[in-house]
Amino acid sequence: MRTQVGIVGAGPAGLLLSHLLALQGIDSVVLEARSREYVEKRVRAGVLEHPTVELLREVGLGERMDREGLPHEGVSLRFAGEQHRIDFADLTGRGIVVYGQQEVVKDLIARRLADGGDVRFDVSGVVLDGLTDDPVIRFDGGELRCDVIVGADGFHGVSRAAVPHAAYDRQYPFAWLGILAKAAPTHHELVYANHVNGFALYSMRSPEVTRLYLQVPPDTDADSWSEAQVWDELHVRLGTEINEGPLIEKSVTGMRSFVSEPMRHGKLFLAGDAAHIVPPTGAKGMNLAIADVRVLAEALCSHLRDGDDAGIDAYSDTCLRRVWRAEHFSWWMTSMLHTDPDADGFDRRLQLSQLRQTVSSRAAATTFAENYVGLPHGSV
Ligand code: FAD
Ligand code: DHB
Repeated sequence: MRTQVGIVGAGPAGLLLSHLLALQGIDSVVLEARSREYVEKRVRAGVLEHPTVELLREVGLGERMDREGLPHEGVSLRFAGEQHRIDFADLTGRGIVVYGQQEVVKDLIARRLADGGDVRFDVSGVVLDGLTDDPVIRFDGGELRCDVIVGADGFHGVSRAAVPHAAYDRQYPFAWLGILAKAAPTHHELVYANHVNGFALYSMRSPEVTRLYLQVPPDTDADSWSEAQVWDELHVRLGTEINEGPLIEKSVTGMRSFVSEPMRHGKLFLAGDAAHIVPPTGAKGMNLAIADVRVLAEALCSHLRDGDDAGIDAYSDTCLRRVWRAEHFSWWMTSMLHTDPDADGFDRRLQLSQLRQTVSSRAAATTFAENYVGLPHGSV
């Protein structure tokens, strides 16, 4: 079997890349380890930044997002018993859309299959070979020869190990317990709360479903929290009324910053979480994955169609500029909002001072808002 671009992983990065390439007449095959049902049900990100929303619309993927997604023009920061709204529309003229990652993935899979795209699920035993001259992806029961390979197989995939790289890593002494509840959202917008008991985040998915997160110790077993404990702690940390309802999902996510440099080795290109992850506080992970493949699709088209290598040669450096901006923003949001078990009174006062400045200085609020709604692609 042969294709122009062999893509490992059917997450947002791999699927969107396959769609962008198809729009330019470039063939690809996507190989995914999990089943279609599994990837369509995996609950993860919820915030689409402005450049992501614009791109999805531009490439014909905005129809259901515009119908069912929830446009937001601000978020609130809560600390020391006060709540302050950051008005994105006023500060930046832009906003975000709350639309679940699994909805983006469902839309992408449906579109690829409707367009005759080749997306294969339940593919096991993926091994990459011939990366400097004649790339091939071997898997149980077959092999795929390609002009180039894209590793879009997430943080726990196999591709990153095939790229000689330097790793930059930061682990945090906390995790998030995330729940989805069948309850109408009480608040219209997201609330990020700093509390001595730990961080909490109020979010939503639809007019019937609320999404909430609590900071917990890193090794927490989700089942060790009863439903009643989850609601009680959310009330305490968010300091407000919340509609309660049956839990649809409950899981714990670790918090880590990680960047692998460079994002290319020979004819293998890494994209999305395969190359970098951020702690979820800044809501940047999926958005970065999407920004990577926008750059990569254009670079691969020039390389494969016109024999012009300028784009593929610049790919890693171009992406890493945006990656490091998001790394900084995500680390900054995480440090400002969480309660570090080792923090002392000095650290706590610095945190409160940073929060106060963010909500009281128009310049500081604008910097926060610009990063949150997403800097225009290509501007960083
Ligand atoms: P993935 O989505 O991880 O996709 C990789 C795919 O590769 C998977 O389907 C996997 O099964 C497959 N795969 C792995 N190994 C192999 C293999 N060997 N062979 C074949 N296939 C393989 N981001 C945001 O932008 N906004 C948010 O609000 C946000 N909130 C988050 C909240 C939580 C709780 C979590 C966990 C994450 C959040 N993120 C958020 C991050 C976001 O979910 C990820 O950054 C995003 O999924 C990255 O997309 P990707 O396509 O690079 O990787
Ligand atoms: C959601 C997740 C995030 O990581 C975040 O910063 C904001 C919202 C969410 O799942 O809705």
